[in-house]
Amino acid sequence: KNLSKFVDELSIPPILKPRWKDAASSYYEVKMTDFKHSFHRELKDTTVWGYEGGYPGPTIEVESGEMVYIKWINDLPAKHLLPVDFTVHGAHKDVPEVRTVVHVHGACVEWESDGYPEAWFTKDFEKVGPYFRRQVYRYDNCQRACTLWYHDHTLGITRLNVYAGLAGFYLIRDQRERLLNLPSGVYEVPLMIQDKTFHQDGSLSYPKQPKKPVPELETSIVPEFFGNMLLVNGKVYPFLKVEPRKYRFRLLNAANSRFFRLKLDSGQRMYLIATERGFMQDPIGVHEILLSPAERAEVIIDFTNLEGKHIIMKNDAQAAFPAGEPVDEDTGTVMQFQVVLPLASVDTSVIPAFLMPVTLLNEQSSSRSRYLTLDDRMDSYGREWMLLDNKSWDAPISENPKLGSTEIWYLINLTKDSHPIHIHLIDFQVLDRRDFDVDRYKKEKTIHYTGPAHPPEPQERGWKDTVRADPKQVTRIIIKFGPFTGLYVWHCHMLEHEDYEMMRPFIVIR
Ligand code: C2O
Ligand code: CU
Repeated sequence: KNLSKFVDELSIPPILKPRWKDAASSYYEVKMTDFKHSFHRELKDTTVWGYEGGYPGPTIEVESGEMVYIKWINDLPAKHLLPVDFTVHGAHKDVPEVRTVVHVHGACVEWESDGYPEAWFTKDFEKVGPYFRRQVYRYDNCQRACTLWYHDHTLGITRLNVYAGLAGFYLIRDQRERLLNLPSGVYEVPLMIQDKTFHQDGSLSYPKQPKKPVPELETSIVPEFFGNMLLVNGKVYPFLKVEPRKYRFRLLNAANSRFFRLKLDSGQRMYLIATERGFMQDPIGVHEILLSPAERAEVIIDFTNLEGKHIIMKNDAQAAFPAGEPVDEDTGTVMQFQVVLPLASVDTSVIPAFLMPVTLLNEQSSSRSRYLTLDDRMDSYGREWMLLDNKSWDAPISENPKLGSTEIWYLINLTKDSHPIHIHLIDFQVLDRRDFDVDRYKKEKTIHYTGPAHPPEPQERGWKDTVRADPKQVTRIIIKFGPFTGLYVWHCHMLEHEDYEMMRPFIVIR
């Protein structure tokens, strides 16, 4: 049966308090536990996993340049909440079933604190993965104000750990941001958008078997997971009461595989002010925003003079994107804004005409180009199997940029889906996208373009860490590697792809 829409209020995760703090640094402890959660008033409360007893986890808010230490603590049960597939990499029978490792997505961080997929740990750090180095992670936060998020990143079970609830916001603030006079305080709201499916009894449903039954092995890896309902901050179809004034929203696609193309049913514009890794140069008014998994966008929505109006945020992105199923009434509805609160005080916040200089990286500064394919294959069980550069996770490291060097990566998508490609440690800029002859590439291994290069979309003209590599196109990004050396990963952020080999290590060398 369908759930009533807009009957539960949006919940806003609390800001996490540090255990201690001095002028330049702070220390947090974050425990992962299982607990009961209410997704919707018509669903029975059910078990989820979360950080500090919250789903989403508490928001971690830090200052640019602040040294932040976090001890991530696994206090989860020994049995997984969701069906584990023991046939995928890193999740074989010889490792404990419940493993965790936390990655702050977008963090500029030493590799030992980055949450490497094989740096996992179990309860009380009793067992650890081969790349485990530290119990307490160190984050330098040597970056400008931006919207990051933290989530689980364990090899072979990331999709399950994140789906169970292990995700939260991590915000970096700075002086420039404060001087911009944006809507702030209660007028600044993070929105984590996801999709889920529930069993009759209200518990989380994640598919256990692929369509083709595989004898003797319990398999759950599906090409992609798409839930039949949308959630914001852990509530299904919530509403938010707002005042007739400007609000700043931090939009995050935290779905396993679903893309969202968001728009307001009032037809009004949203003013885009930031991409994943900071402010754009100038705000842009847009009617819709496409977010692939892990992409973020910050927008200002102006409810001035809309007293009494109810405005619904809609989604119309196909799943899979772009050539999959269209949305229905449920997957097409995100949340509702009710402009019913009285104006508490005059709205003096602004949509600034200028936000921050965004200097474009010069192609001439690149010392190396890498040509990297996105490939679609079949595994021995007849399941879809996506790879990067035709290599599996265990193949020897091939991407080894030099510290401080600039490279251009050509993401050559030979599959029929769009894939959100995320690279750890660094931020990058999108250069362009261009159609090419896929069949000819498969035969000759050379790119023959069939159309002009398209510049990045207006909403992509800023610092990013995740980019859509669209089908039958070459997407070019320019990257400066640093400020740390070490072992990191790059991968597709559709979690079912990431867990099943669409992830590669890379190393920044001196
Ligand atoms: Cu959001 Cu490698 O992760
Ligand atoms: Cu993918």
